[in-house]
Amino acid sequence: MIPYGDAPLVSCRGLQFKWPGSEAMLSMDDFAVAPGERMFLCGPSGSGKSTLLGLLSGVLRATHGEVTVLGVPFSALSASQRDHFRAEHLGYVFQQFNLLPFLSPVENVLLGCAWSPARATRAGTTQQAQRAEAVRLLDSLGLVAQLVERSRTGNLSVGQQQRVAVARALIGGPQLLIADEPTSALDADNRDAFLRLLLAECTRHGTGVVFVSHDMNLARHFDRAVSLGDRPPSQMVA
Ligand SMILES: Nc1ncnc2c1ncn2[C@@H]1O[C@H](COP(=O)(O)OP(=O)(O)O)[C@@H](O)[C@H]1O
Ligand SMILES: [Mg+2]
Repeated sequence: MIPYGDAPLVSCRGLQFKWPGSEAMLSMDDFAVAPGERMFLCGPSGSGKSTLLGLLSGVLRATHGEVTVLGVPFSALSASQRDHFRAEHLGYVFQQFNLLPFLSPVENVLLGCAWSPARATRAGTTQQAQRAEAVRLLDSLGLVAQLVERSRTGNLSVGQQQRVAVARALIGGPQLLIADEPTSALDADNRDAFLRLLLAECTRHGTGVVFVSHDMNLARHFDRAVSLGDRPPSQMVA
């Protein structure tokens, strides 16, 4: 694929998006994330946070304007090329985690390698090394060792599943981690502690972060905060 050089991690120019049948317009004139930067994205429910994450990850296509990630304009890629690009370069943590409940935590994390040969190689050159990296990640994110190999992920608590979802997104050091309100089910103390572990792992790999939450108390952990939804509801504007 195209060489990335010193390109911004993410840049959006004149970005607009409208859901079919809706009048509301998400509009981002000039939005950029630098390599390794940690951005906090906040805004009330319905302000377009998840929609913007869908655009940044290439799941949704802009109605107007362009999303460019690592120097690659998404408009130049087909849907399957965008899927491939996302697996290679982005880790995505869903609000509902989207883990496979019958697999162990380690097996869930290794799915991140199964989807991307490049990330698999960065995680380790043998399956054994990749497994060891999955175990290391789960440990560094605070999942107790007894649970890692043998438990069914579906039997874990919400806080424990969240650690598995983040480890799966981070294995193989993607350039960008996108997280959609992953801490909303945790109490305040756990949220802060978990976020510190997550950001420490991102620093280790130089991974940039776009992290969505409606909890402004978390903004202090990040380099920059961007707010959606300060404008009238007919315009979901940054
Ligand atoms: N799949 C969809 N189809 C149609 N409208 C949608 C869809 N998803 C979200 N929307 C609308 O887009 C707006 C922004 O939603 P969303 O991005 O989910 O906001 P947030 O994540 O900030 O709560 C809302 O008005 C919502 O109803
Ligand atoms: Mg949302």
